[in-house]
Amino acid sequence: MGIKEIKTGELNTKEFITEKAGEISSAVGKGLAINALSGGVDSSAVTMLGHKAIGSRLKTYFINNGLMREDEPRKIVSIFKKFGVSVEVVDARKQFFNALKGITDPEEKREAITQTFYKDVFGKLVKKSKAKYLLQGTILTDVDETVAGIKRQHNVFEQLGIDPKKAFGYKIIEPLVQLRKDGVRKVAEALGLPNSIFNRMPFPGPALSARVIGEATQEKIEIVRLATVITEEELSSTNAFQYMAILHQDRVTGIRSGRREFGMQIEIRCWDSIDARRAQPTRLPYETLEKLANRIVTEVEGVVSVTYNITSKPPSTMEAV
Ligand code: XMP
Repeated sequence: MGIKEIKTGELNTKEFITEKAGEISSAVGKGLAINALSGGVDSSAVTMLGHKAIGSRLKTYFINNGLMREDEPRKIVSIFKKFGVSVEVVDARKQFFNALKGITDPEEKREAITQTFYKDVFGKLVKKSKAKYLLQGTILTDVDETVAGIKRQHNVFEQLGIDPKKAFGYKIIEPLVQLRKDGVRKVAEALGLPNSIFNRMPFPGPALSARVIGEATQEKIEIVRLATVITEEELSSTNAFQYMAILHQDRVTGIRSGRREFGMQIEIRCWDSIDARRAQPTRLPYETLEKLANRIVTEVEGVVSVTYNITSKPPSTMEAV
């Protein structure tokens, strides 16, 4: 591949930042660059680097796909505003829910999200902006996984529907491509980003649609979003690698106010892991689980059952979709 890895132990964040900001500014020159910020550590670090390098000539978009966690667009925009970075929120909820309509297969669901993002939403923004450069937070693990055929979404040229040979002057800049995740966290910290960003829990690209089994309708996303708020509140002190609420498709008989309720089920997962390649369920205290379950069945209307996953990865995966 020809990409020279910078091992986290050998990373000098100050030098790295100066070098990459210099590379971005000399590549972009007096032109414009564009990037999409999700609030994850990679895209956040790229946004700050780009801002450092070329200031307001970097146009940063936050694509609201309707599948984010509670209040996510506002939270992320306000964090970056503090650094003088203006982020434009693009409301693409309709496009994403339309694309997800009727889809129940997990892989088809992921594909629909990827296509909608790259082709329908971001691809169009890139073209409209006339920016000649796209800044992207690809990291070395993404490249490895793409080459190994595990993930395909990082082949951005193809997914934007752009043939780099034909697209005059169009370039992708990937300043983090020599780093692994822990290296990016160090760079993000050195860039002055808050702990809530540089230590952010992983969150999947397909967002909450990866946490709904079966069709991810707007109503189901609302339910899993609310369960996610409660789960994150109750489990944040565990310092686990990742925790999540999943809405199941099957219903079960419950009882509420003395009446039968054929209700929904939420599954909780909480993982101990180093690199997400292998993971074990966290041995949560029963009191924690009980409190969490009680809050969910009380606060999330229609949910009558809460379960906890006790299976390791593999053969489980961390997300259910
Ligand atoms: P799995 O479910 O494969 O998840 O065991 C491993 C880790 O990767 C995250 N994940 C994703 N991250 N895009 C991402 O950027 C995705 O499509 C995606 N799917 C899963 C997952 O949250 C876990 O941390």
